[in-house]
Amino acid sequence: MNPQIRVSKNLETLSVAAAEIFAAAASQSIAERGRFLAALNGGGTPQRLFQLLASDFSARVDWTRVHVFWGDERMVPPDDPESSYGLARTLLLDRVAIPKDNVHRVHSELDAGAAVEDYSRVLKRFASPPLDWPRFDLVLLGMGEDGHTASLFPNSPVDASAPVLAATGRYQGRPAQRVTLTPIVFNAARQVVFMVSGAGKAEMLKRVFDDRYSMEEIPAKRIQPTDGQVIWLADEAAGADLALTPNPSPDERGEQ
Ligand code: 6PG
Repeated sequence: MNPQIRVSKNLETLSVAAAEIFAAAASQSIAERGRFLAALNGGGTPQRLFQLLASDFSARVDWTRVHVFWGDERMVPPDDPESSYGLARTLLLDRVAIPKDNVHRVHSELDAGAAVEDYSRVLKRFASPPLDWPRFDLVLLGMGEDGHTASLFPNSPVDASAPVLAATGRYQGRPAQRVTLTPIVFNAARQVVFMVSGAGKAEMLKRVFDDRYSMEEIPAKRIQPTDGQVIWLADEAAGADLALTPNPSPDERGEQ
C-alpha cells in the first residue's frame, strides 16, 4: 500500500489530525478485537498530540481497553526529563483512565541487555502468532533531520532479525543509549503514522520519497508495513519541498 501524505497548516492542526487518527483507530480496534495496541514516540513533535488526547479527545477513547508501548526509549530512569515514557506519562497517561497494567514501558533503568530481554518478553505476551510480537493497531513515529526514526539511526543494520535491539545514536544532544523496536515489528503494524514538523525536516522528508536514497542512509524508509497503512502527517514547513498535488482540500490543510 502506498504511503499517504497529508500536509497540515501547522503543528497544532497536525496534532489534531493525529488525535483524530488515534481516536478512530482506538474505536475500530476495540470494536473488532476488544483492545487497542498503540506504540508511542518521544521527542518534541507528539507533545501537543498527547495533550489533545488527554483533553478534547479523551472522552472519545475507551482508555480501559488501550495498551500503550513505546517504539523506542532512551536509557534514562523513568522520572528523567529525557524519558519518553515520562513525557507521555506527564502529558497523557496520568490524565486518562488507562489502567496501570496497560502501560508497557521499556525498563530503561536496567542495563540495555536486560531491558531488551524484558521488553521482548512483554511483546511476546501480546504476540500475534506466528510472530513473537504484536501487530500494533497504531504506531506513532517521528523523524529526525538526519532521517532516523524511533532509534534506527543512519547506517545501523537494516536487516535486524530480532524485534528489540539496543542502539546508540547521537542526535541533538539527546541521550544516546537507546532501546528500539526494529522494522520487523513496525512493518507488522496495521497503521503507522509519522509526525513531521518544522522547516529543518523539509529536505529529509523530500528524500524519504526519493528512490536515489537508500534505507541505510534514511532509516525512515525502512518502515513499509507488509499489510498496513503508512500516513505521513507533515506541517507546511516540513512539507515545503514535497511535490504534492496543488490546492489540497481545506481538510488536508488542517483548516477548519
Ligand atoms: C526520540 C525518538 C526519535 C524522535 C525523532 C524526532 O527522540 O525519542 O526516538 O525518533 O521521534 O528524533 O524528534 P522530534 O519530534 O523532537 O523532532
